Amino acid sequence: MGVRLAEVTDPTAVDALAPPAHRILQDLVSSGAALGWALPPAQSEVRDLLTELVEGAATAEAALLVAYASGDDIPAAVGFDPPKPLPDGSVLAGLGYWRRYQRQTHRPHADLERVAVAAGHQGRGIGRALTEGLVASARKAGIEVLTLDARGDNERALTLYRTLGFNEYGRLVDFVAVGHLRYDKVFYALDLRHPWPRL
Ligand SMILES: CC(C)(COP(=O)(O)OP(=O)(O)OC[C@H]1O[C@@H](n2cnc3c(N)ncnc32)[C@H](O)[C@@H]1OP(=O)(O)O)[C@@H](O)C(=O)NCCC(=O)NCCS
Repeated sequence: MGVRLAEVTDPTAVDALAPPAHRILQDLVSSGAALGWALPPAQSEVRDLLTELVEGAATAEAALLVAYASGDDIPAAVGFDPPKPLPDGSVLAGLGYWRRYQRQTHRPHADLERVAVAAGHQGRGIGRALTEGLVASARKAGIEVLTLDARGDNERALTLYRTLGFNEYGRLVDFVAVGHLRYDKVFYALDLRHPWPRL
């Protein structure tokens, strides 16, 4: 399987990107993924989000990174239809983004908000490649501190972020509400003012 990463900067690309991105997010949230939605997002919501991110890329306000996978063995998640390929045979396998903080005193910093890999493509290094790419793009954009938060039981994501140099700076116990269940909300940060992440 080959993986190609691309930063999306062309607003006209959103038309083609929104349906497969929506499908990945919808499938993951339906399966209980901790992406900040209690219910799967509507396609219009995903489309609006992508538009905002791609428009923000022009002014280093945000960055949207996507991963395309190609190869003979493009997998479908159990229980889902196979993904629809692009003309070159590749399929959208994952996406992630960062956004600058709106508060004036926080403008040098950004939040890494959602890294999502289609269920059938997980465990093949795509999440790591996307997150590394997002850290590199934040560094290039001059972001000073990259933060993120994750649900306390999302051990796969938390392990990934720690191995990339993120440090936990806070935790709200039993803060995330999913129906009657409660999970910790964990806050991580990566200080990009240091030349190399402190591993
Ligand atoms: C979290 C997620 C993005 C990781 O993507 P992925 O493509 O499956 O991850 P990778 O194959 O690149 O593995 C990345 C790292 O995760 C960690 N990891 C993988 N499987 C793991 C497991 N079962 N337990 C603990 N850590 C695990 C490892 O550190 C791994 O790195 P390594 O293989 O180099 O040791 C993906 O699982 C996903 O989309 N989950 C649902 C959405 C989500 O929770 N997003 C994060 C929101 S904060």
